[in-house]
Amino acid sequence: MKDIHSYWAYIVLAILIFTVVNAIIGLQQKKKFTDKDFRLGLFTLIVSHLQLLIGLGWYFMSPWYKALKDNGSEIMGDKTTRLLAVEHPTVMIIGIILITIGWSKHKKKTTDRAKFKTFALFYGLALLLILSRIPWNNWF
Ligand code: HEM
Repeated sequence: MKDIHSYWAYIVLAILIFTVVNAIIGLQQKKKFTDKDFRLGLFTLIVSHLQLLIGLGWYFMSPWYKALKDNGSEIMGDKTTRLLAVEHPTVMIIGIILITIGWSKHKKKTTDRAKFKTFALFYGLALLLILSRIPWNNWF
């Protein structure tokens, strides 16, 4: 489960970065919001929701959840364990919520510009949050 979560993260980050860059370019160059842009946003939503499920599955099997329950103050007192047991899961969930809000908001927008703007804003914010709380030292 941990390995799947670790490998799936490459796909999540790659597609999320691609979608944000695509939205910023679309906005700057006043492009038409096409089917391709719609599918990119949808694919990012699906891939990140799958990562949420894998992450939740792994979290409750991982030593971090048990350690947090049994020894909360010690886990919270150390920044490495706090990142794995609390900050990473919480911030990733917030990031995925932002992606979900961005997806549903973009559908209600009627102009190409507003659709790209919604993706750039919500998916972009999610990307920044996700990048800020990845346990980089464990991953590489
Ligand atoms: C966009 C969503 C997410 C991304 C990109 C992501 C990415 C990652 C990465 C790259 C690692 C390091 C893997 C490694 O050590 O090889 C990791 C670890 C971990 N993730 Fe996530 N994650 C996401 C969401 C979640 C969620 C929602 C949860 C739980 C609710 C979660 C729980 C964990 C846990 C417990 C670890 C620690 C693994 C360990 O060292 O034992 N992740 N995640």
